[in-house]
Amino acid sequence: MKRINNPKFVITILLLSLFVSCKNKTEESQITENKSDKTTYSEEDLYRPNFHFTPKKGWMNDPNGMFYKDGFYHLYFQHYPNGNTWGPMHWGHAISTDMVTWKEMPIAIYPDEKGYIFSGSAVVDINNSSGFSKDGIVPIIAMFTYHDMDAEKAGKTNYQSQAIAYSLDEGQTFIKYSENPVIKNPGIRDFRDPKMVWDSIHEKWLMVLAAGQKIMFYSSQNLKDWKQESDFGTGIGGHGGVWECPDFFPLKVQGTNEVKWVLLVSINPGGPNGGSATQYFVGDFDGKQFKIDPSFKNDLNKKENKSIWIDYGRDNYAGVTWANIPDADGRKLFMGWMSNWEYANAVPTETWRSAMTVARTVELQKVNSSYKLLFKPVKELTNYRGTKLEMESVTINGSTKIIDSKSINLSSAEIYFQIPDLKNSSFTFKLTNIQGDTLAFGYDNSNKNFFLDRSKSGKTEFSEKFANRLSMVKRTSLNPDLFGTIILDKTSIELFFDNGETVMTEIFFPNSPFEKLSIESKDQEFTLGSIEIHKLNIN
Ligand code: FRU
Repeated sequence: MKRINNPKFVITILLLSLFVSCKNKTEESQITENKSDKTTYSEEDLYRPNFHFTPKKGWMNDPNGMFYKDGFYHLYFQHYPNGNTWGPMHWGHAISTDMVTWKEMPIAIYPDEKGYIFSGSAVVDINNSSGFSKDGIVPIIAMFTYHDMDAEKAGKTNYQSQAIAYSLDEGQTFIKYSENPVIKNPGIRDFRDPKMVWDSIHEKWLMVLAAGQKIMFYSSQNLKDWKQESDFGTGIGGHGGVWECPDFFPLKVQGTNEVKWVLLVSINPGGPNGGSATQYFVGDFDGKQFKIDPSFKNDLNKKENKSIWIDYGRDNYAGVTWANIPDADGRKLFMGWMSNWEYANAVPTETWRSAMTVARTVELQKVNSSYKLLFKPVKELTNYRGTKLEMESVTINGSTKIIDSKSINLSSAEIYFQIPDLKNSSFTFKLTNIQGDTLAFGYDNSNKNFFLDRSKSGKTEFSEKFANRLSMVKRTSLNPDLFGTIILDKTSIELFFDNGETVMTEIFFPNSPFEKLSIESKDQEFTLGSIEIHKLNIN
């Protein structure tokens, strides 16, 4: 009885029961769907992803306020529930026990007379440094940007400020702080997207904020009073657009005890293949100032646009990492918005618009003197594996069919492949359907480029910026073999090459589901060392 009276326990049980009822529904709908053999498709059938998070209805952009607590991963998101294009921003909310299956919750933060609720972050204030705790409940503190539309329309420049809100019911509802804003606008037009992190090395809260084309660093002891420490960005990195949605965290270099600080900065436009994208920097932090590592600076200077990107596809933006992941887990966990401001408002769905990427781990590797981030899909996805198909040592000369949807549904699949000693191989994977739509991707040895071509992948005409073929030079890898992971959903492909060093995420809208996966050699035959295809039983 005593435990039942504990409000935290009651709320956690409530969240759990909501979650279980959602999973049951998922199983029922799967059975119904398998019964019918469809020839015409509703928007839900054709485009609602099987396992990438989408809101039930309305518009979604950036992931916000992600934290983990007591068995639940929380995801908030920029949301306009009353329309399918960007509008007055709310924080939508979803929960998951594994970052794969999500349950949408009631809206967590509503806009008010001070403005729309733009992007931001949340932390779990375990020691009650904010003083917002009541009856021993651990408060969740969210920080977001107030965007005052009236002030913007009136031509003012100070329309963005930072505010906080706290939750005493496990992140379901938030109470806005009476003294908001906690950081007033100093006269900077783009001044937004606060990302807080507990700095256990210097024992204080930190916050990074995008300001024009710079990042401002703040610190605090109580999450209410913030002191500006420094800024970063002048003359370094990509500056093709405004800087947005930063993230900042320490990360251990794989296999060592060396710790480096990583700064993620989203930029729009100015991405490597047009529109929105996210660049990163590796360096050191003394509690006040971030200094880029000289070797990383050197690597940046070798790049044409002075940036190194977390993803070379066009649909991974504004991604940030989860707060409060237990030490026993130890992973850095990331999720991005799977769209691009160049066409996000026009993609061909009506009920909802946009999905998130799969959750990914972030790792830091040092090879010779170069620091690199590696992004990989979370291992929780493998818990959903169903039917499996495996092939080994396949000689590819011309085009070879790998699989069709009679064996494994290609709208919910995880694929691993390996090509031994890539050096002279050029290959193209093709996903095709009876309508003649094709999504092509692979590696071209003549220019050492990975590529992804969605120009004939189905509906593309909704934006002249959408149909494209993108490419990315293969970065040096320790291994002469090529390893690739492919995550397929109804409307997205996520490609992870060289152990997560080169990532490409793209969305597409075929006229009917892709039914066949084949692989082609270009000039010379080559050996596909192995390929493993797993159906993912999630929808
Ligand atoms: C990034 C962004 C943020 C802003 C939010 C508004 O996609 O422009 O900078 O806070 O979207 O919805």
